Amino acid sequence: MASRERARIFGVLGDPVDHSLSPAMQNAAFVATQLPHLYLRFRVPARALRGALGEARQLAMGGLNLTLPLKEAVLPLLDALTPEAERIGAVNTVVFAEGGKRLHGDNTDGRGFLAALRGRATIRGTHAVLIGAGGAARAVGTALLTAGSASLTIANRTLARAERLAEHLTRLGPTPITLAPLEALAQGRTLERASLVVNTTPLGLLGAPLRLRAEASPRACLFVDLVYAAEPTPFLARAARAGRSTLDGTSLLLQQGALAFELWTRRRAPRAAMARALRAAGLGAHATPLTRRGAAATVSSRRPPRS
Ligand SMILES: NC(=O)c1ccc[n+]([C@@H]2O[C@H](COP(=O)([O-])OP(=O)(O)OC[C@H]3O[C@@H](n4cnc5c(N)ncnc54)[C@H](OP(=O)(O)O)[C@@H]3O)[C@@H](O)[C@H]2O)c1
Repeated sequence: MASRERARIFGVLGDPVDHSLSPAMQNAAFVATQLPHLYLRFRVPARALRGALGEARQLAMGGLNLTLPLKEAVLPLLDALTPEAERIGAVNTVVFAEGGKRLHGDNTDGRGFLAALRGRATIRGTHAVLIGAGGAARAVGTALLTAGSASLTIANRTLARAERLAEHLTRLGPTPITLAPLEALAQGRTLERASLVVNTTPLGLLGAPLRLRAEASPRACLFVDLVYAAEPTPFLARAARAGRSTLDGTSLLLQQGALAFELWTRRRAPRAAMARALRAAGLGAHATPLTRRGAAATVSSRRPPRS
């Protein structure tokens, strides 16, 4: 049956953005729900963001996602923020409210991250290491503290940015937060007590390694990379060689995208169809199974074979 909805354009803005599989996933969701919309990617550097948002308003677009490096830069350009975006201090989803007159910023990365980790890692009462201090790190750090992490270490290339993130997270509660240089990871410092290590840098997009002595972590520690790719990132490959469990960014992509779809359309997201589209695009092959019967579609963590 033909949809009565007016066709709208949705999209992801970022730079780089060519790697983004959000179009494959969101267009599959529109097809599965018989909505006539189209989702595209647009390369928008930070300096062009204001103009791009103006054009999106003029075109009466349906909604936007933002990826690096725009999640924080967009804050002063929006008409309102949801409490979640306010808490995180970054936006990954823009909803066009009041017929497109007002742009509302939300953030689905934090909730998506917790959904992706459900059943795979214990956050409450444990220590986590967060690598990176950009927009994604803000969402993950906020999610970890909200879910009850006992303590957090932030390791970032630029110390001042890590300090700003720590200061922001400190407002959420009294959880102890320490800072470390990236070199500490190469020596295994900060990893000894970690239950979870999350890489939020884009290094995996470039196939670039991050020096890491994964053996220093407890055997049950889970290593997560927010980057998604057909092959494990060097970071995850390093952790797997040390016999640690790994999870790439595919399940976060799926969960944050499903939540964004629900915000834009006010319909339940067809997670199974979205997961199928990601699998068809080559994701999840090293992290089977991509979906679980009877549950929201997820990508499981990869436990290396026992030696
Ligand atoms: N799977 C998903 O659905 C999903 C969701 C969200 C984000 N992501 C991915 O997460 C990554 C980060 O996104 P973002 O929005 O947080 O980006 P961002 O705001 O630009 O932050 C990037 C962070 O990575 C660090 N970094 C960048 N290049 C580096 C390098 N060569 N060496 C060491 N550190 C480096 C930066 O350190 P400095 O502070 O020193 O510059 C900063 O802390 C992207 O790859 C994005 O695709 C994936």
